[in-house]
Amino acid sequence: MKILAIDTSCDDTSVAVTEGRRILSNEKYSQILIHEKWGGVVPNLSKRAHEERIDSVIERGLKKANTTIEDIDYIAVTYGPGLAIALGVGIEKAKALSKEHGKKLIAVNHMEGHIYSCFAQNSKGNPERPMNFPYLVLLVSGGHTELVMFKDHLQYEVIGKTVDDAVGEALDKGARVIMNEQVYPGGPLIEKLAQDGDKDAFDLPRPKVRAQDLDFSYSGLKTALLYTVQEMDEEIRIKNMSSLAASYQEAAFHALIIKLRRAMKKYNIVNIAVGGGVAANEYLRKIIRSEVRKVDGEVCFPTNKDLNGDNAAMIGIVAHYKAMNNEFVEDLDSFDREARAEL
Ligand code: KG4
Ligand code: ZN
Repeated sequence: MKILAIDTSCDDTSVAVTEGRRILSNEKYSQILIHEKWGGVVPNLSKRAHEERIDSVIERGLKKANTTIEDIDYIAVTYGPGLAIALGVGIEKAKALSKEHGKKLIAVNHMEGHIYSCFAQNSKGNPERPMNFPYLVLLVSGGHTELVMFKDHLQYEVIGKTVDDAVGEALDKGARVIMNEQVYPGGPLIEKLAQDGDKDAFDLPRPKVRAQDLDFSYSGLKTALLYTVQEMDEEIRIKNMSSLAASYQEAAFHALIIKLRRAMKKYNIVNIAVGGGVAANEYLRKIIRSEVRKVDGEVCFPTNKDLNGDNAAMIGIVAHYKAMNNEFVEDLDSFDREARAEL
């Protein structure tokens, strides 16, 4: 069963062809160069760029997979969560293809996609990675920080989430403060700076670690960083950029580890999956691996670097399980985006 999947939830125009968990192609056109000078995603520019690129990315996706639209069984598209006017571009295109070629449409939640990105395979079916439910999933992206019980295919329960900013958003905003510049995305910049810094140099608050629930909060940490930097002379800030980044990253990730540890204990689950853009961070991977090793558990991350951030292959993989469940969009005309969709 071949699926053509589209994701335009934020700043990547992504198209993939998948078959089960296997990725036959996973193409994207990134808009980072358009948005970076504004220090974040500019919605109108994003919409226009998606509109301009989507046809050529679809063409590339089909070509790389060595297939044609006639050979595709189903179309899949992200319906949310994400940036409303960006989501709309992918949805309209998916609906049009679906009508024109008489293929059923499958609607996928973007965060479901990030979960399944940990179980994606290449075109030859590697890695095998059998799925041993249940998993405890940590989702860390630009808009979400969630702990999810992944009970079985397509069955999720959100057991903890951020009450304010997401961890990726906190890293993006933090980078702008530390570097005193409009930069985007900030996560990779903080990771790079932090490599040369001292993570104990600045005593930043560890968000919400004492609360007994499984929720997260990043607004206090962000404010603390802002105050710390505001008190510095420009010269001192420049000298301390690496250590500011290392201390900030440490505080942000420490909160993730504490809650992950608490959830593993509470639910007695040692099979962990970590998805979302922030899962690209090598330091985060290292500290999660060492945490999971302590309980003889197993952790899986997205199976290659193209799967860390937004991509359409993860959407196609979810769609496969939805198709097996007969979950199709019933009425194409009334099907619409849901910018605030939840799992
Ligand atoms: O999943 P994603 O690509 O888009 C959303 O669905 O939000 O996540 C984007 C987020 C951004 O906040 C970005 O700064 C962060 O992922 N990110 C990273 C790294 N690469 C991307 N954060 C930390 N370290 C990285 N290497
Ligand atoms: Zn995402």
